[in-house]
Formats: sequence, structure tokens, C-alpha cells
Amino acid sequence: MRRARWAGARARLTAAVTSLVILAACANTKQNVLDPQGQVARDEDRLWDIVFPIAIFFFFVVGILTILIVIKFRDKGDDRAPKQVHGNTILEAGWTAIPAAILLVIGILTVSTVIDINRKAEGADVLEVTVVGHQWWWEYEYPQHRVTTANEMHIPVGTKVNVTLKSDDVIHSWWPPKLAGKVDVIPGRTNHMVIEADKPGTYYGQCTEYCGLSHANMRLRVIAQSKDDFATWASDQAQDAATPTAGEAAEGAALFRSKGCSGCHTVKGFAVGQVGPDLTHFSSRETFAGAIFDRNNENLRRWLLDPPKEKPMQPDRNLGMPNLHLTDDEITKLIAYLDTLK
Ligand code: CUA
Repeated sequence: MRRARWAGARARLTAAVTSLVILAACANTKQNVLDPQGQVARDEDRLWDIVFPIAIFFFFVVGILTILIVIKFRDKGDDRAPKQVHGNTILEAGWTAIPAAILLVIGILTVSTVIDINRKAEGADVLEVTVVGHQWWWEYEYPQHRVTTANEMHIPVGTKVNVTLKSDDVIHSWWPPKLAGKVDVIPGRTNHMVIEADKPGTYYGQCTEYCGLSHANMRLRVIAQSKDDFATWASDQAQDAATPTAGEAAEGAALFRSKGCSGCHTVKGFAVGQVGPDLTHFSSRETFAGAIFDRNNENLRRWLLDPPKEKPMQPDRNLGMPNLHLTDDEITKLIAYLDTLK
């Protein structure tokens, strides 16, 4: 009696946890794969629209038949051997030919879509962006604009973007679900994908290949802008940073050098570090540290106080930013300097 009650409670608990997990996945509308916002994502979504109903239909047909057969032909305790059947040509031909025909249609649609979406975009207005995966942040290079930025990729709307994917260390996977499917970022290999956004907006994504300690903290944003806004953004980003000459910001710039920040970070016109994200126009970004923090003074202060505490990293293995043991006063000055990097 007690055991039965426990089994019932356990079944209810399992059902509750399962539905919670499923509902939690639904709630993530920012990265909803079923809400395509560009041509590439729509092509992929169309495949799902065709394949999923077919799969669901057969799931129920097979499931229900299995249950009915289990009930109807169960051992009734009379020990008689079941009736022996030696095949049915029509049935067998049917259940071979029909699935084969369905799979052929799905196969043709899938292969042609895969070929379509893997074709590099061509044309005068196509934007080229190179994504470089790092433990644990994304670098974006715009060879046509001589721009380098991090984590937040800006693109113009209604424009095909050729994305070239490379890795600096281990395997990552770059995925903005509303714009395109994921593509792996593999050391020693160059992959390609095309993305396109219909409307201005921020499209969220993240690394989807386990890449070490802060894999979960390797997020990304694609910020789609009108063509004019994008052109303004790109020309602003191509400028060198102006180095402040007075006040706290100037003292911060001096600290940026003396504390070693400049050994890892590039600030065009001021520092040429090659390890961490390019900070030339840091204050034009919404986020920092793998796009896990909103960029504001409070978060920056916490970050500079002890980076590996805010985001798990392994500075002892040259992975991520070390704790520089900065004083409050030094942090204030560094933030004042970062504020000038618009
Ligand atoms: Cu990069 Cu996971």
C-alpha cells in the first residue's frame, strides 16, 4: 500500500519536473528556433514544418498500434501457441514502399536546402565577417571595413552576410537561432555560413559546443541595424581611439599601460595586445566578458576587482583575464578611461 503511494508520488514528481523543464525551454523566446527572422532561418524552419508533422503522425500511429497489439495479443494464460502467419505480400510491400517514398521526399528537400544555405552569398552589397572563437569570447573582424570587435556582431538588415568561422583554440559552435542554424568553429579548419536579418533588432545566441570551463559564458548578440545606421557604426568603429589627456581618464589610460592591460588588449592608436578582446570602442557595446554582463560602471567595478570570480576562467593556463589586484581608486580611473572608448 505504502509502496503504491510512493510510486504514485514519484510518477507525479517526474511529470512535474519534466513539464517544468519543457516549459522552461519554451520560455526562452530570445533564442527560439521556431521564430525565424531571416531568409536562412526561414529555409531551415520550412524543413521542420514539413518533417515534424510527418514524424509526429508516425510516432502516434506506431505508438498506438504497439499498445493495441500488446493488449490484444498478450498471454492470456491458456498456454496455446499463437496462430502462425507466414507473411503478407501487400502489407510488406506497403510498409516498405510508403516510408521509402516519404524518406525520398524528405531527403530531396533536406539535401537541396543544405546545398542552398551553404552557398556563399555573392554580390556587391554582401557583408563579410570573420568570427574567431576564443576561450571564452567571440571576435568579429570586418575585412571590408577594417573593424574588429567582440561578442556583439553588427549587421545591416536585408543584406546577406558571409560569415567565416575560425577558432583560436578549441572547438566552439556559433549559433544565433533566429537567424541561422549552428555551425562549428574548429581549429585548423575554416567553416562558412550565411546569415540575414529582415528587421532591425538584437538577436541572441551562444556557443553550443562544450569548450571548457566558461562554455556557458560564451554568449553572443547579432545587432541588425538599418543600412545607414550600420554604415555609421562601421565608420565610427574603424577610427582609432582618442587618448584622453587630462583628468581621471588620462590617469586610467596610464594605468591601462602600467598594469599590463595593454599587453593583452588592443586599443587602436594606443595599445596593441593580441590576447583579449579589442577594446578600441568598448563603450559602444551593450555588454562585456562574453556578453554575460551589461556594460555599466557597477558591473565593470565588480569585474575589475576579480575577473575569474565573476566568470570562471583559468588565467594560470593563459585562459581568460587574471586578477590584477587593483585598488578601488585604480578601478575608478580605469573605468573613466574605458568610458572614453566610444
Ligand atoms: Cu565556446 Cu563553448
